[in-house]
Amino acid sequence: MSTLLISRLERNPVAQFRLWFDEWAATRPPEVNAMVVATVDPQGQPWARTVLLKQFDDNGFVFFTNRESNKGRHLLAGQRAALYFQWLNNSRQVQIHGRVEMTSAAEDDAYFASRPRESQLGAWASQQSRPLAARDTLEDRFAAYDRQYPDTVPRPPYWGGFRVTPERYEFWQAGAHRLHDRFEYTRDGDDWFIQRLNP
Ligand SMILES: Cc1cc2nc3c(=O)[nH]c(=O)nc-3n(C[C@H](O)[C@H](O)[C@H](O)COP(=O)(O)O)c2cc1C
Repeated sequence: MSTLLISRLERNPVAQFRLWFDEWAATRPPEVNAMVVATVDPQGQPWARTVLLKQFDDNGFVFFTNRESNKGRHLLAGQRAALYFQWLNNSRQVQIHGRVEMTSAAEDDAYFASRPRESQLGAWASQQSRPLAARDTLEDRFAAYDRQYPDTVPRPPYWGGFRVTPERYEFWQAGAHRLHDRFEYTRDGDDWFIQRLNP
């Protein structure tokens, strides 16, 4: 029987997340930073896709993408997202709801500059989420940008990060007999209200 106790949870959900993230990383999964980002389009249709979590701390959870992609347009219009972490090696999952804002141009430049040249050129070549007539078109665009930027590749103006500032976390840990442990953190002024939920 699982014995996850409220007294053993960190009061700060980022600290709790870090604890579980480190235990997930210790299982050496193929993509330790993978998370699902769910967005809602203007018609109320939910969408979901995997991205890589690049940073998390008390300021929020950051990932990078093309802001003209489907997810980018949903986030710029709706400013809300859900993040989902499926940590099955540990029989755990974590969900986060939050508000979304763009990262600063300085953060975008710094992260873009740290990427391999091929990824930088790919960011120019791919009109993410738009129809692509043929694979050759993409490869031709990649080659054209490779010639256009023989030295430093500048950051495309539409490429950058989003920061999700959590308003709700849910930590789920499998228990025997389907009696799982679920803990919800919700914002309570500057602090967090923690409660156990039915599984
Ligand atoms: C393991 C994995 C990691 C990914 N990481 C990113 C990422 O960090 N940023 C990104 O824009 N797309 C990433 N993708 C691709 C997205 O899942 C998605 O196909 C793409 O961003 C277009 O999504 P959209 O059309 O819903 O905007 C990743 C996919 C996988 C499977």
